[in-house]
Amino acid sequence: MSEKLALVTGASRGIGKACALELAKAGYDIVVNYAGNAEAAEKTVQEIKALGVDAEAYKFDVSNKEEVDKSIAQIIEKYGRIDVLVNNAGITRDGLFMRMSDENWNAVINTNLSSAFFVSQPVVKVMMKQRSGAIVNMASVVGVSGNAGQANYSAAKAGLIGLTKTLAKELGSRGIRVNAVAPGFINTDMTKDLDTSKFTDFIPLKRLGEPEDIAKAVKFLAVDAQYVTGQVLEVDGGLII
Ligand code: NAI
Repeated sequence: MSEKLALVTGASRGIGKACALELAKAGYDIVVNYAGNAEAAEKTVQEIKALGVDAEAYKFDVSNKEEVDKSIAQIIEKYGRIDVLVNNAGITRDGLFMRMSDENWNAVINTNLSSAFFVSQPVVKVMMKQRSGAIVNMASVVGVSGNAGQANYSAAKAGLIGLTKTLAKELGSRGIRVNAVAPGFINTDMTKDLDTSKFTDFIPLKRLGEPEDIAKAVKFLAVDAQYVTGQVLEVDGGLII
């Protein structure tokens, strides 16, 4: 077992999985949180272990405070520390604002924003005892720029950016850094139903991003950037310059 532990939420696929693998390459043991797909989570665990560090899958719904509290308590009891937290889990429920249901508003706010409150609070408690730690929140360029048809998602991601900056100010003196990554269009299950060919025209780098592009930025903020806190790093091929 390594002396450093990273917890990545929603890590059984997509960007979360890439972040888990990148942090494993940097020598971290990894807790792979997942919501439902145990098989995919176990596959991620095996891929991480093949890199020479330890990994374990923990099933909990990040939007359910009781489940989160129970699971984080188990993780801390077992490992004794959490050095890096990546609040990655997220969903979309797109629709125009005037037609948006309460259900779709609440689901997106709870899963993308309240989840970061639920997960970070018990994790910060242990980071404060350690007097060290790094949190990276997975925002989005639409949290910076807004996007028609995504009022719930843009509001949640903008909220994450506000949370990031506030926690950076509150926790810096405790040795805890808090940053956010704002991805543009990334090739994952989340974007697989979009006709992304029409977006590449507007992207200066003329391609969609890959999960690994985001994972490298997350690893930079979590591990390398020891004098960086409260920042939002846009990783979007230049989409919202
Ligand atoms: P994805 O849909 O492949 O992955 C999302 C992950 O979150 C899945 O593993 C899913 O099971 C997990 N998840 C969802 N609800 C959960 C819950 N209640 N509890 C625990 N886990 C839960 O999509 P992708 O693209 O990998 O998304 C990862 C993050 O990146 C999300 O926060 C998303 O909003 C953000 N993002 C993605 C962009 C893209 O273009 N793909 C662009 C900007 C931000």
